[in-house]
Amino acid sequence: MNDFQTTFGHPPQVTAHAPGRVNLIGEHTDYNDGFVLPIAIEQAATVMISFSHDSQHHLVAPDTGERYDLMPDAKLEGLGKYVLGCFRVLEEHFKITVPPLNYWVRSTVPTGSGLSSSAAIEVATLRAVRELLNLELDDVKLAQLGQRAENVWVGVPCGIMDQMASSVANTQTALFLDTLTLEMRSVSLPAGSEILVIHSGVSHELSDGGYAERRAQCEEASRLLGLKSLRFLTDWGQLSTLEGKLKKRARHVVTENDRVLRALESDAGHFGILMNESHSSLRDDYGVSVRAVDDLVEILQAQGGVYGARMTGGGFGGCVVALVRAGRVLEVGRRAVEQHRALGYAGRQVVPPLE
Ligand code: GLA
Repeated sequence: MNDFQTTFGHPPQVTAHAPGRVNLIGEHTDYNDGFVLPIAIEQAATVMISFSHDSQHHLVAPDTGERYDLMPDAKLEGLGKYVLGCFRVLEEHFKITVPPLNYWVRSTVPTGSGLSSSAAIEVATLRAVRELLNLELDDVKLAQLGQRAENVWVGVPCGIMDQMASSVANTQTALFLDTLTLEMRSVSLPAGSEILVIHSGVSHELSDGGYAERRAQCEEASRLLGLKSLRFLTDWGQLSTLEGKLKKRARHVVTENDRVLRALESDAGHFGILMNESHSSLRDDYGVSVRAVDDLVEILQAQGGVYGARMTGGGFGGCVVALVRAGRVLEVGRRAVEQHRALGYAGRQVVPPLE
């Protein structure tokens, strides 16, 4: 069952792609109505579909060996949650029934890495069905439906960053997004810099509870402050009325929003400092880093040619992103992976891809 044709006996009617993303700065701000700055990566999900000739959806993912034959109203598990979750939000939005489909997906975005492998599958799935059924759906609305599929059917209370990045970002310029207004603009990387992404070798699982717990803490903090969301905490003095963990969580969010806005105006050197500060804040105030990631961040920060480095994505493992002097990325990547492996981890370079 390697490709669509051999699996289903005919070629696909539609093929769609959607990329993963790496977030440069602005972490855990999106569900607080804040600012983010992701950029698409080359790794992407590819979805192929055709109408099925029976009453079931047939889903195949050769990479994970998953195969599901599902009635449209089936109870969902595994890949089924993502795919039928997308079908169901489309049905709800357009008041239609998605006809039974043959569905095939393959992705080069590593899972559990903080690079939005789920959003890439959701966006590619929605794109494929949009084309097959000729649905009138713009890229922003498509991202919102992907987020809804993730919230409702996958069960991760994520913000809008990943699906927006996968739906509208490109690999050449970063995407500044105000997650409250969905106002966005393309932002060039600081002159003379390039991006390096290294996997720490430790996978994360955002449905485990730590992510939802952080989100609930932020909502509780803004409720105590009488704000609609932490986006509106502009007088930092108000932080002193909060206590313990809530104070730390809120402090991360307001300082991180401020760092994103400052990053937009920064040269590579200053941008890197903001990334380093972001990491410390995520580690110390937000509590979403792990040892393997901290070790990798420290190794990167110590390399010549590195402007700054931080964890990226939801946390609890996954990847580290570094801003590196142009032309030095491969050398820095090789050395950092080597030093990290010497500590016993199984890390590897993800961006730029090595093969
Ligand atoms: C995950 C979520 C995003 C965002 C990041 C943290 O990737 O899907 O919505 O909250 O974590 O910045």
